[in-house]
Amino acid sequence: MSYLNTTKDLYREAALTPDVGLCCTTNPVWELPGLKIPKIMQEMNYGCGSTVNARDLVNNPKILYVGVGGGMELLQFAYFSRQKGGVTGVDVVDEMLEASRRNFKEAEAQNPWFSRDFVDLKKGDALNLPLEDASVDVAAQNCLFNIFKEKELRQAIAEMYRVLKPHGRLVMSDPVCEQEMNTTLREDERLRALCLSGSLPLQEYIKMLTDAGFGTIEIRAKRPYRVLAPGQYPTDELIYIESVEVCAIKDPMPEDGPCVFTGKAAIYFGDDEYFDDGQGHVLLQNQPLAVCDKTAAALEALGRKDIFISPSTYHYDGGGCC
Ligand SMILES: C[S@@+](CC[C@H](N)C(=O)[O-])C[C@H]1O[C@@H](n2cnc3c(N)ncnc32)[C@H](O)[C@@H]1O
Repeated sequence: MSYLNTTKDLYREAALTPDVGLCCTTNPVWELPGLKIPKIMQEMNYGCGSTVNARDLVNNPKILYVGVGGGMELLQFAYFSRQKGGVTGVDVVDEMLEASRRNFKEAEAQNPWFSRDFVDLKKGDALNLPLEDASVDVAAQNCLFNIFKEKELRQAIAEMYRVLKPHGRLVMSDPVCEQEMNTTLREDERLRALCLSGSLPLQEYIKMLTDAGFGTIEIRAKRPYRVLAPGQYPTDELIYIESVEVCAIKDPMPEDGPCVFTGKAAIYFGDDEYFDDGQGHVLLQNQPLAVCDKTAAALEALGRKDIFISPSTYHYDGGGCC
């Protein structure tokens, strides 16, 4: 596939000559107490959000990070795991592995708690991960999977699913776009590699994850990312791209379909102390309960006048039931 080679070439260049404008956003970078992120890692931040969440990182998880870039998020993961080989970084581009290795040396000099051997760097492809089945608790990728076309995207997600333990978490950040992009944009290998023209609508992106078997999906954040303007890109209309942070959990698939949390809540405001739908959802009077989209639809279908369902915030941060 030539677009995969174009991608490798582009990131080979980005490893040799850090490109601050490449694929990164202006989101503030996590600086936690005692965590210093070397400037070079910030300059090589080629992601579009964050995949590092303290609540995923309990009980000494084994972490896999695919597409290492300058290594910033691996350092942030290591901040929580702090053990030899706690974080495995996989990248297909030798020069990127070499650059991140140098950056971890710099991080070690600036962070007394950090040791280079907390991170194990491996050459490998997202489409054929060099890891055993069911061997990691948390797998992450930032701004890589949006580059893949459908066949490769399905394969990359299936690989993450394979290496995760049961109930393991795939944490991702990627651009999404609700507008249709024309074929010229879609087929432009460089724009795709730059994370500008491969993105899917959010619901299609979610479906790729649930098709792979992930039973629970959390949409944790959605933000403005880029516009593609006519005259600057091969498009007649202005295209607006957002970035999302998503966690796909390797929970068994419920019989009635996946639980997708997009930040909806149900609020019962009737006369009783609570409303019990008999399906495991107890709504206390005037207390919002986070619900997945499936439950939100089922509650709405009851047609009650005393239950309010909020719109999706795309900012789900735990709790509630599906
Ligand atoms: C857009 S950059 C993102 C880097 C990093 N995740 C970040 O947030 O800064 C994509 C990364 O994926 C790597 N990469 C490209 N194709 C890959 C593949 N097929 N398998 C593994 N890594 C790949 C690139 O070398 C680069 O490090």
